[in-house]
Amino acid sequence: MDIKPVEFDLPEHGSPEISCKPSQAWARVPAQPSTAEKSALKAEIKALLKARDAVLVAHYYVDAELQDLAEETGGCVSDSLEMARFGRESAHQNLVVAGVRFMGETSKILNPEKRVFMPDLDATCSLDLGCPADEFAAFCDQHPDRTVVVYANTSAAVKARADWMVTSSIALDIVGHLHAQGQKILWAPDRHLGQYIQRQTGADMMLWQGSCLVHDEFKAEELKMLKAQHPDALVLVHPESPQAVVELADVVGSTTQLIRATQTPGVNTFIVATDNGILHKMRQFAPDKMLIEAPTAGNSATCKSCAHCPWMAMNGLVNLRDVLKTGFDSGQGEVHVEPALGRQAYRCIDRMLDFAKTHGISGPRGQGRLEQAHQGVGPA
Ligand code: 13P
Ligand code: SF4
Repeated sequence: MDIKPVEFDLPEHGSPEISCKPSQAWARVPAQPSTAEKSALKAEIKALLKARDAVLVAHYYVDAELQDLAEETGGCVSDSLEMARFGRESAHQNLVVAGVRFMGETSKILNPEKRVFMPDLDATCSLDLGCPADEFAAFCDQHPDRTVVVYANTSAAVKARADWMVTSSIALDIVGHLHAQGQKILWAPDRHLGQYIQRQTGADMMLWQGSCLVHDEFKAEELKMLKAQHPDALVLVHPESPQAVVELADVVGSTTQLIRATQTPGVNTFIVATDNGILHKMRQFAPDKMLIEAPTAGNSATCKSCAHCPWMAMNGLVNLRDVLKTGFDSGQGEVHVEPALGRQAYRCIDRMLDFAKTHGISGPRGQGRLEQAHQGVGPA
């Protein structure tokens, strides 16, 4: 089957309810409130979280104010899977997920008895948009001899068709294990992450051709020039980046692993190739270190190449307050996963969690909280 290039700017598939192009997402990024408004909003959100028996679970790419608020109120800021694991272990009956749609859905799949809300349900992901469930199912049907492994950044319907779900931190362990058993892999949706795993494990992998519109913009030539200016710097790269960029990395890993790497002894400067929302936590975690953003499009840069996810940016203090204030009664912002689909999708997530446990990975590597995270996934 021919895989056509993914048009994530113009999604033709999926429910219109969740199709939100990058340009629409940018147009909906909430305006920054004034300092006085911010403190009033934060106080209101803190009171509402208590009143609603809710906990805030945020990703490192969202607004710094939301990350701090999550931690100040007993919630968490972490990578994608730990967000879901935290929600499952939390005693609170309700979860508010500040991130993108697949994160809210994964939380709901793992916690079907809880109510899960998001500040804006239209916050999606180019990987999710670029992998429509019907086309993906047809691709799988054409390769019944292959074990289907999907990245967390997919819809519940895609996960329901998969044998395994992985995150960037545990993908090498799981695919390496399947390869050692002689299994051939069908991988979706991120082609760069897929190629990286293929190179590292030597597995026979057939790849879906999706990409992350943020990481796809990092440029190797400009990164080489930057490295030459900072010869002592370590280059930290998320594996959703193109191969030429990954090849320049000293550490390749999930967001938690990259943050952790900023504490590498004896190194004071880091060049960071991932969404720049991560710099907030890196600065808190390694306050004395110099952090430099990796270049995106160099001389041909456009506003698209800003190293920031437009959908993550849709999460703000006002829509968070609104979902807590009115969404719990009106249902606005509530994540729903059809129960039978959720049960089907649960299997591939649970398999990964079980693998982590039986292989002594105390929580999928790098998916744990910072203090539990190991070093990076591996070298380039
Ligand atoms: P992490 O699981 O490493 O946080 O990655 C999520 C993501 O969307 C990266 O773009
Ligand atoms: Fe998806 Fe990329 Fe945004 Fe992560 S940064 S949520 S992979 S579009």
